[in-house]
Amino acid sequence: MSKIEPFSENIFVTRPVFPPIEEVTEKLRDIWAAKWLTNNGPQHYMLERELEQYLKVPYLSLFNNGTIALMVAIQSLRLQGDVITTPFTFAATPHVLSWNNIRPIFCDIDEDTMNIDADKIESMITPQTTAILAVHVFGTPCNVEKIQQIADAYGLKVVYDAAHAFGVEIDGQGIGNFGDISMFSFHATKVYHTLEGGALVHRNKNLKQRIDLLKNFGIKNEDEVVMTGINGKLDEVRAAIGRIMLGYVADEKEKRRKLHKVYNAELGNVAGLKLMPKCDENVKLNYQYYVIRVDEKVFGKSRDDIYDELKKYNVHARKYFHPLCSEFTCYRQLNSSRAENLPVANVIGQQVLSLPMYGDLTADDVKKICAIIKSISK
Ligand SMILES: Cc1ncc(COP(=O)(O)O)c(C=O)c1O
Repeated sequence: MSKIEPFSENIFVTRPVFPPIEEVTEKLRDIWAAKWLTNNGPQHYMLERELEQYLKVPYLSLFNNGTIALMVAIQSLRLQGDVITTPFTFAATPHVLSWNNIRPIFCDIDEDTMNIDADKIESMITPQTTAILAVHVFGTPCNVEKIQQIADAYGLKVVYDAAHAFGVEIDGQGIGNFGDISMFSFHATKVYHTLEGGALVHRNKNLKQRIDLLKNFGIKNEDEVVMTGINGKLDEVRAAIGRIMLGYVADEKEKRRKLHKVYNAELGNVAGLKLMPKCDENVKLNYQYYVIRVDEKVFGKSRDDIYDELKKYNVHARKYFHPLCSEFTCYRQLNSSRAENLPVANVIGQQVLSLPMYGDLTADDVKKICAIIKSISK
């Protein structure tokens, strides 16, 4: 094999989609003409309606980021006590529970999907449990049916952290239609973004009213403040960017879908590498991430070896999600955090590596990244 040359510029795990500057300038002119910068302006109103359509959900409330949105989701359902969640997620997921004075209870994950293992939830329920906070990790849907069955049987609420799952569908239904509330993140690194931003989706008009009050300090009108709200508002500039980005998300997803295929073809037969979980035909994915798992014994090198090797070629992969949330100093004292309670998550946390995935990447770039990985296998 000929020698592999390093990439001439850094290849990061993702690169935000930049809409054409002319379109942004045009929208900025509209905002300047309307003289309305934030607080439920016309761009904000229109983006909410456009996203309700795109995500096929009845009600959507925009937020300034996904974390604040999730905090408000927990508040709006008046949750307390313990909430069962996953350790294999971004820090924001358990943190929103702690910020609401709720104890996260970590449940182990499914070996295949890397989502919370629905078969293990029931045994963790106690009188203190009020809800399940599940994450559609890397855009792969959770076992929504089973989770709802458990929630119904025990009178629990279900909140989905759908930060990774923009546009994902099951049987033609938007992923936001499951559970009581779902949160989407529109952070710049996501397949669809508003620079920073997020949304809550729900199926109940009263809940929308409560959520909209909570994200605006609880201010009902000039004379009444009816709850302890927060500032979760999305401004007009970012709402306008979101409206522009809706025109580009299909193209970005299609480019990523093709790159997924290249990764699958190049790495599919490499012993010791496990690729993205295969979803049923009825699931429409968004191809936001490309994640592998490295079985060191079979591959001959560890996840960290691959990470280090890629770096030598200017490829910056990320160890998502390592460390597990249960390993954070703020959570490791919890009983549910003990490694023996989370055997699958602890193995996967050591194996997982997120490889570069964004529309500007070429098929040749992906082939080269795969060649670097394969060059160090046994
Ligand atoms: C699973 C998950 N939950 C929550 C968040 C927080 O979203 P945001 O960055 O919009 O606050 C992220 C961040 O990207 C995430 O990956």
